[in-house]
Amino acid sequence: MNRHIAIYPGSFDPFTNGHLDIVRRGLEIFDTIIIAVARNSEKNSLFSIAERIDMISRLIEHDPRLKVETFDGLLVDYAVSKGARVILRGLRAVTDFEFEFQMAQMNHTVCEQVETLFMMTAPECAYLSSSIVKEVGRLNGDISQFVPPLVRDELLKKFGHN
Ligand code: COA
Repeated sequence: MNRHIAIYPGSFDPFTNGHLDIVRRGLEIFDTIIIAVARNSEKNSLFSIAERIDMISRLIEHDPRLKVETFDGLLVDYAVSKGARVILRGLRAVTDFEFEFQMAQMNHTVCEQVETLFMMTAPECAYLSSSIVKEVGRLNGDISQFVPPLVRDELLKKFGHN
């Protein structure tokens, strides 16, 4: 198993500056980060999986250390199939802790080889979530400080504000 690959999983609907912050800092530690878009999320999504993959691909195309993929089924099985020992997650606030703790414990119980590593989200992103960005965008608020420009443009298109 390769120690230098991390999986960064999530629904990324859409990818925000908070996600980008975790990925950038993760690259200081790992050789490769696979951004893994979960297919079976129960959340009602705004962007299709293909649209999310396309946006993230465009965001990371300059960096060969980053990949984007989608996965089905158990995250730990996917991590093992990629030769990754680490699942990378961002923690924004105390409220994230309980859910993340539960997931990390469950994942480690199901698959001992895979560890979850948490990074504290940058303070300026601590209040961000994809839902809150969508809400502000839907109401035609300025979202340019929360998401990369291409994500902002796609959100504006979705909401018919362009
Ligand atoms: N900055 C800003 N926002 C962040 C963030 C950061 N650094 N990190 C997370 N968020 C936000 C996301 O935008 C998202 O916002 P939303 O709820 O408004 O959409 C929210 O925090 C949490 O989402 P995310 O990190 O995408 O997690 P998730 O709960 O959508 O996905 C999976 C969790 C996909 C990792 C999990 O469901 C999974 O592993 N599924 C596979 C099946 C499996 O193995 N299940 C067993 C797990 S024990």
